[in-house]
Amino acid sequence: MFEKQIIYLESVDSTNKYLMDGEFGQGSVVSAKCQTHGKGRGGREWKYAPGENLFFSVVLPILPREKLMGAQIAAGYAIVETLMEYADIRLKWPNDIVCADRKLGGLLIETHFAGSVLKKIVFGAGINLNSYPPELSARATSLSEFTDAELLPNVILKKALGQLGDVFKTYTSGELDIASEWAYYSAYYSKKMHFHRNGTLKILIEKGITSDGRLIAQNEQGEEEIITEGEIGYDFRF
Ligand code: BTN
Repeated sequence: MFEKQIIYLESVDSTNKYLMDGEFGQGSVVSAKCQTHGKGRGGREWKYAPGENLFFSVVLPILPREKLMGAQIAAGYAIVETLMEYADIRLKWPNDIVCADRKLGGLLIETHFAGSVLKKIVFGAGINLNSYPPELSARATSLSEFTDAELLPNVILKKALGQLGDVFKTYTSGELDIASEWAYYSAYYSKKMHFHRNGTLKILIEKGITSDGRLIAQNEQGEEEIITEGEIGYDFRF
């Protein structure tokens, strides 16, 4: 699905923006050696360190609006499957790739609507293969910290595209229920976490995700809460 047209760039502002702004059809892929304005979640910048890391984006098939949030989770499953051969990689809801409680990658889905019609979906991933920004050392890492294997961006890109193709076939057909797979792919399933929203802090236990990709958590009163946004922090000192 994604291996037909791969564009390799030396440098670009953002691989997501490149595909979003240009005339690229479904299945198009762009990968860049560096990004000058890599986009992260919530309008933040995706920071990276010089080195052989992986930044790429793909144009996804058009999905019903209610499948968009889950598409990012499904894509996360594909990235975990790709990296699992090197280390114990898992997801942190909604879009982080983690290893040993540190972030080594991030996922970002962006959409373009013409009125109410969904015209384009771009999925992008940034993966710290061989280096990470030293100023983020308290919570970031790279795959090279966990393996002696040679981590070549273009080799890992090809594997990731294969996995994404497989996962999206089953996700779009309805065969893949992301909710039933979450316990395996989550780094924090059934663990305690901090949830920050509007300046308030709650302590919740991660219970799973809904079939459309929202987080299910249990509060201190034993009630279930469904979370669609906000900052999730995880804390193991309890
Ligand atoms: C996040 O963790 O906040 C998401 C980061 C997503 C970064 C990737 S790098 C490739 C693609 N192009 C971008 O501009 N962003 C995504």
